[in-house]
Amino acid sequence: MITPRVLLTTGGAGFIGSNFVHYCQGQYSKGQYSKGQYSEICVLDALTYAGNRATLGDLEGQDGFHLIEGNICDAGLVAQILAAHQIDTVVHFAAESHVDRSISGPAAFVQTNVVGTFTLLEAFRHHWQERGKPEQFRFLHVSTDEVFGSLGPDDPAFSEVTPYAPNSPYSASKAGSDHLVRAYFHTYGLPTLITNCSNNYGPYQFPEKLIPLMCINILLGKPLPVYGDGQNIRDWLHVEDHCRALEAVLLKAKPGETYNIGGNNQVKNIDIVEQICDLMESWAGELPISPKKLITFVGDRPGHDRRYAMNIAKIQRDLSWQPHYDFATGLKQTVDWYLTHRDWWQPLLSDEYQGYYAALYGDRP
Ligand code: NAD
Ligand code: TYD
Repeated sequence: MITPRVLLTTGGAGFIGSNFVHYCQGQYSKGQYSKGQYSEICVLDALTYAGNRATLGDLEGQDGFHLIEGNICDAGLVAQILAAHQIDTVVHFAAESHVDRSISGPAAFVQTNVVGTFTLLEAFRHHWQERGKPEQFRFLHVSTDEVFGSLGPDDPAFSEVTPYAPNSPYSASKAGSDHLVRAYFHTYGLPTLITNCSNNYGPYQFPEKLIPLMCINILLGKPLPVYGDGQNIRDWLHVEDHCRALEAVLLKAKPGETYNIGGNNQVKNIDIVEQICDLMESWAGELPISPKKLITFVGDRPGHDRRYAMNIAKIQRDLSWQPHYDFATGLKQTVDWYLTHRDWWQPLLSDEYQGYYAALYGDRP
């Protein structure tokens, strides 16, 4: 019998955080654990361009659910939330998460990802110490495979002992936050956990990322920008599988542990774009242009990591977790979701987004 947890999710109005909140509410049928694990769920989210209140709209007003608009760098607010709701579990998603934005504007990445994580750790440390260091408290830091750098074609996949070698301001700021979390376990004994996950896909991902961007551009008849030669490889995991992994780590892992999470699913960018084109072509609705005609190779991202791949033996062995989705099924479900949820993504194509898009793609060779 597990005591229900009082959960604070930072960044719970973003892509993975919102999927996790929905998962914890028992809205996904494949969940290994049942609804009732959480007596209360608080979301702290600054609602930046990437955060979307509408994603959690069905939960607002429900008993035991609270969406708090605020910044993780606000130490007073964080302390007040931890105390007022008697939080025992933090799952920390909040971050600036897009590599391209980290190249054009790295400061926000250092602020949120490094300073924000530090602020949360400090507040949670005091909260935990003042209550006599309860054993069931947990701080789960959600991180990325990008901290490990880039793999050559024949290199073995990243494991939990691969040295960090981040190459972008995004991955460097996530690496910095991982190190702080690790230090808080070793120095203070704070019961922290770290997960490093590969690229996620699924519902509610902001339009700037590869898969939603391709789906939306096909519907709008806009070019499909493929960076460089399109041969870069990512290890794609369905977001629902990520949520199941996070819950397994939260409930079963020993404090201080780190786990790699991935899909055992390495795919080249150009292959993904072509698969999306094929899926959309077979859709019964009207498309402005045949999708493959829209594929456009554009200048590469500076410092573009060539290949990521995760060795997931540790989480498979220790926590009996493994991905459920095969990529063909998950990608079709995701493409269908974007086709049928125009009401969700259309409002996100705001003036800010158009400005970002023009600056990133407008003059690209
Ligand atoms: P996202 O950009 O979709 O969402 C981030 C959320 O954090 C948004 O709701 C945003 O409003 C919020 N936020 C940003 N700055 C904040 C601040 N200062 N205070 C409070 N809230 C703030 O990101 P995502 O793709 O859902 O990623 C979530 C986490 O998972 C990140 O830490 C990311 O590094 C990690 N991750 C992502 C992937 C992926 O493929 N998307 C893979 C591995 C790990
Ligand atoms: P992205 O979704 O930005 O995730 P990440 O950079 O964190 O892996 O991009 C996934 C891959 O797709 C990455 O190799 C960059 C590439 N990409 C394009 O080729 N074109 C695009 O317009 C975007 C957004 C990404």
